[in-house]
Amino acid sequence: MHSFGFRANAVLTFGITILALICAMASISDNFNSPRPSSEIQIKYPIDSGEIKFSFSMQVSLTMNITADLQSLFTWNTKQVFVFVAAEYETPKNALNQVSLWDAIIPAKEHAKFWVQTANKYRFVDQGSNLRGKDFNLTLHWHVMPKTGKMFANKLVIPGYRLPEEYR
Ligand SMILES: *[C@@H]1O[C@H](CO)[C@@H](O)[C@H](O)[C@H]1NC(C)=O
Ligand SMILES: *[C@@H]1O[C@H](CO)[C@@H](O)[C@H](O)[C@H]1NC(C)=O
Repeated sequence: MHSFGFRANAVLTFGITILALICAMASISDNFNSPRPSSEIQIKYPIDSGEIKFSFSMQVSLTMNITADLQSLFTWNTKQVFVFVAAEYETPKNALNQVSLWDAIIPAKEHAKFWVQTANKYRFVDQGSNLRGKDFNLTLHWHVMPKTGKMFANKLVIPGYRLPEEYR
């Protein structure tokens, strides 16, 4: 009885030690992996000879052509990657305004190299600010959720976008 309990305990301890070791290795290998995701985003506004759909609340509709290769974010320890594209711009009131335009969950490396053409899922609206002719950056953010270890996040800034001046 006594020896059985002792053995079971030893096996359990051994198991936990191995598990802890695997978790540690997983986190370490994640830290060594320096991913270099890439992305290109083209924006099209719904233009029919200069017509931009600004509504009274300054809502902007646009179509994005997002090409991205996020495969380097995936290791054997990656559960999934949450990715979102945001427009970032300055206004006199706020140094940084961030509007999320699109997001997705990438479940596996096979899906991490993709091309999507999409309208903005969330409204690009800023009450009271004049967004016409506004310069903005697009940022591609990713949150990597590992199977074990801590989540990490980073972003890629794609600068140099400008909202059109003209609209009807
Ligand atoms: C979207 O971007 C890709 C890669 O840059 C390009 O091959 C494709 O033609 C573009 N599609 C549209 C509809 O602009
Ligand atoms: C846009 O990107 C440029 C270059 O990376 C940076 O200098 C600028 O501060 C960015 N603007 C905003 C609003 O984040």
